Amino acid sequence: MKVLVLGSGGREHALCWALAKSSAVDELLCAPGNGGIAEVAECVDISADDALAVIEMCRTRHIGFVVVGPEAPLVAGMVDALEEAGIPAFGPSAKAAMLEASKGFTRDLCASHHIPSVGYVRATTMAEARAYTSANTLPLVVKADGLAAGKGVSIGSTEDEANSAAEFILSGGFPEAGTSVVIEQFLEGEEVSFFALVDGKHVLPLGSAQDHKAVGDGDTGPNTGGMGAYSPAPVMTDALEAQIMDTIIRPTVAAMEAEGRPFKGVLFAGLMITRQGPKLLEYNVRFGDPECQVLMARLDCDLLPLLKAARDGTLDQVRPKWRDDAALCVVMAAKGYPGAYEKGSVINGLEAAQEDPDVTIFHAGTTRASDQIQATGGRVLGVTATGASVGDAQSLAYRAVEKIDWPNGFYRRDIGWRAIDRKP
Ligand code: GLY
Repeated sequence: MKVLVLGSGGREHALCWALAKSSAVDELLCAPGNGGIAEVAECVDISADDALAVIEMCRTRHIGFVVVGPEAPLVAGMVDALEEAGIPAFGPSAKAAMLEASKGFTRDLCASHHIPSVGYVRATTMAEARAYTSANTLPLVVKADGLAAGKGVSIGSTEDEANSAAEFILSGGFPEAGTSVVIEQFLEGEEVSFFALVDGKHVLPLGSAQDHKAVGDGDTGPNTGGMGAYSPAPVMTDALEAQIMDTIIRPTVAAMEAEGRPFKGVLFAGLMITRQGPKLLEYNVRFGDPECQVLMARLDCDLLPLLKAARDGTLDQVRPKWRDDAALCVVMAAKGYPGAYEKGSVINGLEAAQEDPDVTIFHAGTTRASDQIQATGGRVLGVTATGASVGDAQSLAYRAVEKIDWPNGFYRRDIGWRAIDRKP
C-alpha cells in the first residue's frame, strides 16, 4: 500500500519512522516533511493544509491511506475532504475535531455527560468574565477557546491578571482562536498525557507520557510546544488507567457518538491527577509532539494495521505490542525559541549521536541542503533513547545530545526529573 503522512514535525518523523518498518507499506510519502523524514519517506512539497493539492497528489500517486499528523488540517476538515474523495484517512472529522478546536465545546460536553472535569465559564463579554473571576477562588486558568498554537493559556493569580488575560483574548489577541474565552478552576496535582485509538465505538488504550512544557530547567520560563517527554509515566498505574478509561475516555467516545460526532483517530487526553482522582484538562485530537516520539520508540508491532483499524471501525480486532523499555526524548531547539530565533544554522554530529541502536533522532524544523542539515524551525530535533528505566533512557539520550555539534541550539537538562525523583 502507498501511504501518505501529512505534517512536518517531530511527531510526523516518528510516525514515518514507524510506518517505514511496516511490511504492508510499499511506498511512503510525506507532505511536506523535513530533513530527517527525507531519510525514510519521499517528501512532497505540498502544504499539509492544502486539501485540494493533497487530494490531487493522492490521485496521481495512487495513495491508499493518509495519516494526518497536526491539528490544523483536522480541524479544517482534511479527513472529511479525503474521505469524500474516496481516499481512506486516519484522523477525526472536523465535527469530531471540535474536542480540540473549542475548549468550551469540550467543557460543555464533559458537564452534560458527567465526565470529571473542572468548574468553568464560557464568556464572550468582559461582564461575563468579571462575574466569574470575582466569584471564584484564585488562581484561575484563562484559555482562548480555539486553537492558539499552544500560546492561548495563562494563569491569573489575581483577579486583575485573570481579567486582563480574558480582555486580551476577547479583543482578538489570538486572532485564529476567535473571541471567546474559557475561564476555569486551577487544579493541583500531577499532569499526565494519555493516548487511545478510537474507531467511533471501540477504544484501544495506547499508553501514557509526560511532557515538559516550560522552556527552562525546573519548569521555568514561558511555555513551548514541549521540550521533552518520556513514556510510560510512572504515575499511571493499571488501576488509574482503568479509572481514566471508565470515567473519562469511554464516556467521551459514547458522548461524541450520541451527539452525532463519532470520533475516529487518536484521542490525546491532557489529565490532572488530583487528590480527588483524574480530571480532564483538555483533549487533543492527534498524537502529542514530543509524546509521539516516545510512544513510537516503545511500539513493538506494525503501526499501520492499528491506524487502519481506527479508520475502518475494527479496533476490537487488533492489539498493540509494546517494548518493556521506557523511552525519553530531549528536544533541541533554536536559541531564542519560543520567541524569535535564527534560521539556517548547520547541525553536525548527527550520525555519531545515533550510533547506539537504542537512540533515534527525530527531526522537526530541519531542512536538508546538499549534504548538510540546517535548522529551520523553533523545535529542531528530538533525541530519543530507550532503556530499562526512565533514568537509563535519560542517560543515553543526554550522551547522544552531547555528541551533536550545533552551537545555535539549546535544550533542557532535566527531562525526566519527575519520574526519576519519584519515590516508589
Ligand atoms: N506536547 C503537547 C502537545 O502536543 O500538545
